[in-house]
Amino acid sequence: MQIEQELYSGKAKTVYTTADPDRLILRFRDDTSAFDGEKTAQLARKGMVNNKTNAFIMEQLEKAGIPTHFERVLSNNESLVKRLDMIPLECVVRNITAGSICRRLGVPENQDLDPPVFEFFLKNDELHDPLVNEYHIRAFGWASDEEMATMKRLTFEVNDVLKQLFMDAGILLVDYKLEFGRYHGQIVLGDEFTADGCRLWDAATRKKLDKDRFRQDMGDVVEAYEEVAERLGVELD
Ligand code: TMP
Ligand code: ASP
Repeated sequence: MQIEQELYSGKAKTVYTTADPDRLILRFRDDTSAFDGEKTAQLARKGMVNNKTNAFIMEQLEKAGIPTHFERVLSNNESLVKRLDMIPLECVVRNITAGSICRRLGVPENQDLDPPVFEFFLKNDELHDPLVNEYHIRAFGWASDEEMATMKRLTFEVNDVLKQLFMDAGILLVDYKLEFGRYHGQIVLGDEFTADGCRLWDAATRKKLDKDRFRQDMGDVVEAYEEVAERLGVELD
């Protein structure tokens, strides 16, 4: 499948159209950003590591019956995906407290959340991705009630699959963000699942193995992403 033209360039990926109106190519770049684009850097190998890790995770989710946009890997840093009509919401599940929930609610990091917490955020960097609830989503028409219910159900199903997958690799799935879109009327998981959009801690030491290493200037960012990939059994270049 050949690239036709650039459709959109985000903070870490560029999206291209193809000759097939139902298929896009995602190029995972080495660019990294945090704090809604305020802090950026280029991290060698990150595009390749994320492309391959995302492919592995999406394949595991498909096997578990979760519909995803992923089709196949095309090159070290490119994958073919279905073209979705994206819903401008971020679906977050938290199994352990970290990040914005600690600041928002004044709770300490590293507290188990059982049952896990689900949150919707509006995808809007200028507004710093504000927390929204189902009334906002309904009133502003971002998604229907049925679509919200499906996104929530699928996000929790992803939790069941990935908590176990990471635990088998000695890693705690602390929290993660998913984005969904519509594909011929069906709600399908889009975007990516990589260490850029979740928190992963070593189960024994609680060492951070995700983008918090970049946000908090801890160093060894790509090294941590590669460690996650290797522990999952993802083949890297
Ligand atoms: P938060 O603690 O900043 O609300 O983020 C929760 C999880 O979701 C964390 O793993 C990071 C991820 N996330 C993103 O990757 N991008 C986003 O825009 C948001 C709001 C969250
Ligand atoms: N909000 C996410 C973060 O802080 C993604 C981003 O905007 O860069 O990492």
